[in-house]
Amino acid sequence: MKRTAPTTPIKLAKKEPVIRTVNLSKIYPNRGVPVPAVRGVDLEVGDGEFVAIMGPSGSGKSTLVHMMGGLDTSTGGEIWLDGRRVDTLSESRRAVLRREKIGFVFQFFNLVANMTVADNVELPALLSGVSPKEARSRREYLLAELGLAERADASPAMLSGGEQQRVALARALSNRPSVLLADEPTGNLDSRNTRDVLRLLGEVHKEGQTIVMVTHEARVASLADRVVCLVDGQIVDDGAISRPRRRPDGAVGDVVDLGG
Ligand SMILES: Nc1ncnc2c1ncn2[C@@H]1O[C@H](COP(=O)(O)OP(=O)(O)O)[C@@H](O)[C@H]1O
Ligand SMILES: [Mg+2]
Repeated sequence: MKRTAPTTPIKLAKKEPVIRTVNLSKIYPNRGVPVPAVRGVDLEVGDGEFVAIMGPSGSGKSTLVHMMGGLDTSTGGEIWLDGRRVDTLSESRRAVLRREKIGFVFQFFNLVANMTVADNVELPALLSGVSPKEARSRREYLLAELGLAERADASPAMLSGGEQQRVALARALSNRPSVLLADEPTGNLDSRNTRDVLRLLGEVHKEGQTIVMVTHEARVASLADRVVCLVDGQIVDDGAISRPRRRPDGAVGDVVDLGG
């Protein structure tokens, strides 16, 4: 039987990636001895995707996500965010972009010490231009999800490390960022706090939040849809995670068993 090729291309409803890097590189000028930290990374993260970045210490994971979030400058290549090239923007424009489109959570929670927990969480939402009422309801939702509702009026210094990290995550999500960038967010947490942080990540991912998370723990990475592995500043592996144990309802607890 003769097949006729379609005359018009079939249009697939493919959304553009939230983040795209093209041949991205970073060389630190380390007192005359250049250190190539990221070497020609091509990475696309789709809308709603949850990508884990793994790799040995010093492989360029932090440098990569810092550049993606506009916290560090690149020395070559391109970065696109929501269809717009961002690596060529001025520092002040990048700051605006970070405020509006990026949520960042680090291994060491950087909360504002002289503000309450509630204000820490509301601030990014207010800075991104939402109404005070909306900022408050977002904050209430996030703190409740993280079991921190009753700590809203506390100052960060009164919280444990695990609680502070949960607040830092709530803060990173308060402006509903295009992408949440997390650099070893559970690196300093005990298993209970790790579980709370991962539960919220799973929750917001289910609601469509795009996430890029650096981790060196396979169990933490197993929460993601896809794992990208960096070695010496280059992607050596990039693949979807198969989920043999996932229930049809997609319960997070089935995937990540932190055992305690
Ligand atoms: N500010 C800096 N100045 C010079 N070299 C740096 C700096 N930050 C990171 N590096 C180097 O870049 C490489 C990648 O570092 P990093 O991105 O922190 O890796 P990872 O997060 O995977 O541990 C390492 O060799 C590190 O020593
Ligand atoms: Mg790092």
